[in-house]
Amino acid sequence: MSDQLILNEYKQQIADLYSRRSQTYDDSDWHPRIAHRLVEHARISSGQHVLDIATGTGMAAIEAAQFVGSEGRVVGVDISNGMLEQARRKVEALGFRNIEFQLADAEALDFPENNFDVVLCSSAFIWMSDLNAALRLWHRLLKPGGLIGFHAFAETAFVGGVVAQKVAEKYGISYAMSKPTGTIEKCHDLLAAGGFEAIEINPEQDGGYISLEQAKRMWAGSEHPAPGQFPNPLSQLSSEQLEQAKAEFEAELEALVTEQGIWNDVTIFFAFGRKPIDHSS
Ligand SMILES: C[S@@+](CC[C@H](N)C(=O)[O-])C[C@H]1O[C@@H](n2cnc3c(N)ncnc32)[C@H](O)[C@@H]1O
Repeated sequence: MSDQLILNEYKQQIADLYSRRSQTYDDSDWHPRIAHRLVEHARISSGQHVLDIATGTGMAAIEAAQFVGSEGRVVGVDISNGMLEQARRKVEALGFRNIEFQLADAEALDFPENNFDVVLCSSAFIWMSDLNAALRLWHRLLKPGGLIGFHAFAETAFVGGVVAQKVAEKYGISYAMSKPTGTIEKCHDLLAAGGFEAIEINPEQDGGYISLEQAKRMWAGSEHPAPGQFPNPLSQLSSEQLEQAKAEFEAELEALVTEQGIWNDVTIFFAFGRKPIDHSS
């Protein structure tokens, strides 16, 4: 198995970002929760063959491995060696033998067609550069009747992102972030266009108050990769404009402060669909 992948600049930036974060990634409070809920919704059963797309440190994959048991198999793929290292370390400590991790681009997988019972993608779908093409590829890898499940944030989620988008628009910049999957209808339409049926989108309302300082730290600037967009659209701005945009971002956040802090919506969608069974053959 290769530990080297040839990635374009967009994907290399993502891989580097997550490799840098890999040692502390599992400390995040929402990623484990989301992965857990996605697996729970998928109702994985014993003996199934599961693909965990952009598995990261293997959170969803490891949970799925417990459901598929010794008769089943889980494969987790990711472009970040650092994240996969953490995933492999956890699996070794657990002694699981029904799970493997591969360094691979989720948009260029060469598994055989009709191979998996379940394909999962937790906290990562938005990073794909072509959401429709990715879904079509994953559809091919599923067995007829197989289940796809991805998680997405609502377009109202993360106050920092929402305010950054508003500020960017003033500069004529469209910052996509969670917009492509940001409503129930959009998740539904993406799955339908990918050829899936029996589509179910389960919204879960979450969120909490955060401090102004926490909200200000959500400014990602132009160095950070932007989901689905390369280069980061903010890189069109001069350094003076960027500084000004950041000041406007902070002023907008200050206007949102209440006695409890700033409300940070974290509405989540768990989107599921099935590959149709072809009754004609
Ligand atoms: C926020 S993490 C999610 C990890 C894990 N699924 C979870 O639930 O915690 C996003 C992950 O997507 C991976 N990723 C992004 N684009 C990818 C691609 N095209 N192919 C494979 N992995 C990708 C990143 O390397 C990173 O590990």
